[in-house]
Amino acid sequence: PLYQKATYLKSVPTLALCPDNLTHEVAFAGRSNAGKSSALNVITSQKTLARTSKTPGRTQLINFFTLDDHRALVDLPGYGFAKVNVKIKRAWEAGLSEYIEKSPSLKGLILLVDSRMPPTEIDLMMLNWTQELNLPVHILLTKSDKLKKGPAKANLLKLRKLLKEEYPHASAQLFSSLKREGLIEVWNKLDEWMEY
Ligand code: GTP
Ligand code: MG
Repeated sequence: PLYQKATYLKSVPTLALCPDNLTHEVAFAGRSNAGKSSALNVITSQKTLARTSKTPGRTQLINFFTLDDHRALVDLPGYGFAKVNVKIKRAWEAGLSEYIEKSPSLKGLILLVDSRMPPTEIDLMMLNWTQELNLPVHILLTKSDKLKKGPAKANLLKLRKLLKEEYPHASAQLFSSLKREGLIEVWNKLDEWMEY
């Protein structure tokens, strides 16, 4: 119910323009088209809160959705999206990395990874980088509806083994926006980070 209150606040390109009254933020990151915006909509039970699209690169700014006066969920542009002008791409990647590195109220990152494939090189870079930053990460292995139960579970266990060995700041679960699977688990993680 807390997350149903999410309301669009604003979209900004850089940290300097981010709202300054927030104490708790959780951001959604991951490859382009991984399903970040879809996950946000399901988590907040709002069909059209964040814009989703079949075309990768839909989300292009840092989008803030407030839950109350001091808390917000943040939809980030996807990484690894090549089909834009190189200059624009560099500028938005710089804006994004500055936000993740320096936002004082960012409590954790929800990282979306396709459940059908092993984490990409960029996903692993994100894990290394967030570990250096001491930023907790919770991975949603998304689109789990596209896999049978057995293989989905096997991929989750494999990922958890990797996290345990190399990235103890990160946890993982299966998730499907389409089937609304894994919602309680992700709400619990958000409650923890938001100190609800
Ligand atoms: P960018 O903003 O471009 O970085 O993408 P995004 O990560 O926000 O992805 P988005 O939520 O826009 O979803 C991309 C596509 O994947 C859309 O066509 C969604 O309908 C589809 N999709 C997202 N989540 C799921 C899921 O759990 N299951 C299935 N089957 N499709 C999904
Ligand atoms: Mg998006």
